[in-house]
Amino acid sequence: MTDTSSSHHGAPGRRWQLDTALAHLGRASAVAAKSVNPPIVRASTTVFESLAEFKASYQGTVFEAPRYGRSGTSTNFELQAAMAGLCGAQTCIATPSGLSAIAAVLGAHARPGCQILVQENVYGPTQTLCEKVLGPLQCRIDYFGSADALEEKLTAQAALIFLEVPSSLTMQMVDVAAVCEIARRQGVPVACDSTWGTPVFFDAHALGIDISLHAATKYINGHSDTLLGLLTGSYEALQSTRAWCDRHGTHVSADSCALALRGMRTLGLRMARHDASALAVASWLQAQPQIARVLFPALPSDPGHALWKQQFTGGPGPFTVELTPCSEPAYERFIDALRLFGLGTSWGGFESLVMPAIPHHLRALAVQPDDGRLVRFHIGLEAPEDLCSDLHEALRHVHR
Ligand SMILES: Cc1ncc(COP(=O)(O)O)c(C=O)c1O
Repeated sequence: MTDTSSSHHGAPGRRWQLDTALAHLGRASAVAAKSVNPPIVRASTTVFESLAEFKASYQGTVFEAPRYGRSGTSTNFELQAAMAGLCGAQTCIATPSGLSAIAAVLGAHARPGCQILVQENVYGPTQTLCEKVLGPLQCRIDYFGSADALEEKLTAQAALIFLEVPSSLTMQMVDVAAVCEIARRQGVPVACDSTWGTPVFFDAHALGIDISLHAATKYINGHSDTLLGLLTGSYEALQSTRAWCDRHGTHVSADSCALALRGMRTLGLRMARHDASALAVASWLQAQPQIARVLFPALPSDPGHALWKQQFTGGPGPFTVELTPCSEPAYERFIDALRLFGLGTSWGGFESLVMPAIPHHLRALAVQPDDGRLVRFHIGLEAPEDLCSDLHEALRHVHR
């Protein structure tokens, strides 16, 4: 049963349950417009009513209101305030995509000679960014698979620990609370790609994470029609990342923010459905003879299930399966026979998707599949029975 009843959401001083916060946060500017939703304000230029107001907008590095178009209009600030409230954080920064949020955090913490510790099997482009951008800047990148391994690898030069739970594709868990405790003792900040859990199922800051980031492109927007990143944390934890965004001209359009706010209103309902349907379809697949294993920590049989139960209150829609060995033409027929699963690399929308693993997804796998045939499914909001029928028809090809 999905538990979405955690009660720490809302503006400071308010303690709402999640669904109430999702419905009410980020609507302050709607009052003046006499509308339910905040207006979509498009602007490159912000104008001020007085010199005093203009000067005030340039005081300090923290700002929670429009200053110049790059930092966003009232629409952006509504989304950021809503997300901060949902996550129980002081502040939020919007970026143009999930990957740009990752780049901002890594870029803001990297300095020559530092060590960046990254959880194994994180999203492929995060690893590429570490190796191709931070490596040449003389940063040492060390990967770790557990809190114990992190402790062994941590040096005095550590500048950031970067997590993603569960990790992309392999969906491996790590003990987040243990990692945060080690990091706290050594004074090293912890950032986490929290996209999988969303604020509905994964309370990143309560577990000790300093900077939590979301590819809001996925579940928060939820309709596969915009790209967006959201970073949450305290003013202090996000200070260098905000400065990095400011210096790099990081900007998100008001239209993207309005779409994400609209999507956010139904996040609780959608996540409950993704949770139930993914578990139903993954359990069904586990019993099929063409499936060698299902990698999904929400399943009781998964090695990460105990950690998952401690850290998550529900499961995301994506999981990975390994097919039993079959020929390449049979594999192609299986993928092409799927009618209800779009063939694409994303997830988090209302629709189901299938993504065959490509070599860069597989490079860091501890247990290599026999013939490399790992397939990720995203379970959308369709009826799970229809999805299982579609899979049943397509799986017939795996034996031929
Ligand atoms: C776990 C995870 N983090 C980050 C991203 C990047 O998000 P975006 O596509 O918005 O750059 C993705 C995209 O697939 C992802 O799966």
